[in-house]
Amino acid sequence: MPERLQKLIAQAGLASRRQAEAWIADGRVLVNGTVSQLGDRADLAHDNIIVNGRKLSVAEEKITVLLNKPRGYISTLKDPQGRDLVTDLVADLQQRLFPIGRLDYNTEGLLLLTNDGDLSQRLSHPRHHVEKTYLVKVRGSLTEQKICSLRDGILLNDGKTQPARVANVRNGRATSWFELTIREGRNRQVRRMCEAVDLQVVRLKRVRIGFLELGNVATGRYRILTSQEVDKLKKLVQIKKQPPPFNEGIGTPMSGR
Ligand code: URA
Repeated sequence: MPERLQKLIAQAGLASRRQAEAWIADGRVLVNGTVSQLGDRADLAHDNIIVNGRKLSVAEEKITVLLNKPRGYISTLKDPQGRDLVTDLVADLQQRLFPIGRLDYNTEGLLLLTNDGDLSQRLSHPRHHVEKTYLVKVRGSLTEQKICSLRDGILLNDGKTQPARVANVRNGRATSWFELTIREGRNRQVRRMCEAVDLQVVRLKRVRIGFLELGNVATGRYRILTSQEVDKLKKLVQIKKQPPPFNEGIGTPMSGR
């Protein structure tokens, strides 16, 4: 059955649907030799679909990894400036993974990468409100007033931030640390929230997404999530578990008749 091209590309694990739409709009997707348009449908069984110069084939095994991103890595799939990419850190895996959301070039810590377009799209969707906790190091110290502003919400140029949690404040004379938990994922949100209350961020590290903790994964290293963790993530964003394929021949409703 013909399906929208962005859905087929996401199902094959090449990118999120949004990224696939951008590739279609950029003319990087051909169907039977013709450049496709947004909205086009195709059938993997009958059509020859080429994405970024490579033939699209049936899905590879889906995996999701938890990476401890170092500072100085970019979370896009390409960088015109030639900077190091987070995908370089998982290049030893057979699957081609892409990051779920982004961490800034100078932000470190927990970043998920996957080849599961559906999971990526849902986890990045603001509707799901998945909590993310950041360890923040700032110059100077946090006053009660600044803590209250961060907690209650701050008016940024793209609207007021939702209530956040501030915990484990360790005020020092020169620098201070605290944990900030937010449920949104706006661009540079933590840095902009801090700027708005006159706090200069000197280090920013994401340590938790939902129930997933960075734990003792070393900087620049990753671990593959277990199937239980992936199931729990899917539950968090309400993706129904696929039933296992029918084992033809044995145990089917017709066997033994
Ligand atoms: N907030 C930021 O400011 N930067 C990040 O990388 C993530 C959240």
